Amino acid sequence: MIGYAFCGSFCTHATSLSILSELREKGYDIQPIVSECVYSTNTRFGTSAHLIEQICTICSRPVIHTIAMAEPLGPASPLDALVIAPCTGNTLAKIACGITDTAVTMASKAHLRCDRPLLVALASNDALSAN
Ligand SMILES: Cc1cc2nc3c(=O)[nH]c(=O)nc-3n(C[C@H](O)[C@H](O)[C@H](O)COP(=O)(O)O)c2cc1C
Repeated sequence: MIGYAFCGSFCTHATSLSILSELREKGYDIQPIVSECVYSTNTRFGTSAHLIEQICTICSRPVIHTIAMAEPLGPASPLDALVIAPCTGNTLAKIACGITDTAVTMASKAHLRCDRPLLVALASNDALSAN
């Protein structure tokens, strides 16, 4: 099982969805995860409800969207790999500093504890050095 997480780089969600579809077509079983920001924010790129519906349809699973839901993704229920695509500068900075206050940072922390691979597709357009 692969974990596939979306952070709030809203302009890159369409691209990430197409990668997610490709992975499913190749037969991967995928547990989707979204940050609380993604789960609750409507933007000019679309509504959160529409995005969540698309993700659930592609993966045939409900999304993990809270810290409590993500917590078992460590030793209790390990993933083979975790992909964060897109990963915001916000989330990257939090992971680097050991901050665990979203579903995605919780999933990362739990996953890294098991020494499993974490693939980060960074999408941050400004202030990258600050992140
Ligand atoms: C329309 C829109 C586009 C955004 N695009 C990006 C982006 O490409 N990269 C980035 O790092 N942050 C971007 N942000 C800011 C993040 O959404 C914000 O930092 C948020 O707190 C990220 O939360 P998360 O990392 O928990 O998903 C964008 C925000 C909005 C409203």
